[in-house]
Amino acid sequence: MQKEKEGKPLKKALYAGSFDPITAGHLDVINRASRLCDVLVVGVIHNPSKASAFSGDERMDMIRKATAHLSNIQIDRFDGLLADYVLKHDITVVIRGLRATMDFEYEIQMAQMNARLYNNKAETIFLMTNPEHSFISSSLMREVFALGGDISGLVPDCVLEMMKSKALTAKGE
Ligand code: COA
Repeated sequence: MQKEKEGKPLKKALYAGSFDPITAGHLDVINRASRLCDVLVVGVIHNPSKASAFSGDERMDMIRKATAHLSNIQIDRFDGLLADYVLKHDITVVIRGLRATMDFEYEIQMAQMNARLYNNKAETIFLMTNPEHSFISSSLMREVFALGGDISGLVPDCVLEMMKSKALTAKGE
């Protein structure tokens, strides 16, 4: 019988997003993806179509704290084409989370465009979001928090702390 190859099925994967802020839904995808690969790069991208609530450093800091229990995470920040980053850093798999059918059309368009740009050097793999998180988005978390709603459990604890301290600073307390 052939000896099983050591290591995880995937070598270096990328999970990218604006993470403004990272949510429990993102963290669920990161936890699951990290079990599939040797290294999971969490890439913080500035999405020019969205105004950012948190700086790039703040977002990276929150991701670092929220993923401290995982040993195979690298956190990076980049601008420009995702495909350029993928090819430059020898990434073979890009992970995306699918929350609901509404994500599908946008995701298939992006995956197909990226497939062309990857030139057969990488693949997009989709993980179905845990149904408990299917309604979460970063902007919804910011909105509910700003209006005094309870978002505990929907964002990592360190994110909630950061949001509270930012709100206090903004009020000058
Ligand atoms: N759980 C909870 N929320 C989730 C989630 C999950 N599993 N997955 C996504 N979300 C949320 C995000 O927080 C985001 O919320 P927001 O719109 O309120 O900010 C929303 O769902 C959309 O997520 P996503 O589609 O991942 O958008 P994004 O802005 O985080 O990331 C990029 C999009 C950055 C990956 C994409 O724009 C990109 O690749 N940009 C690089 C430029 C490029 O290459 N363009 C050509 C692409 S073909």
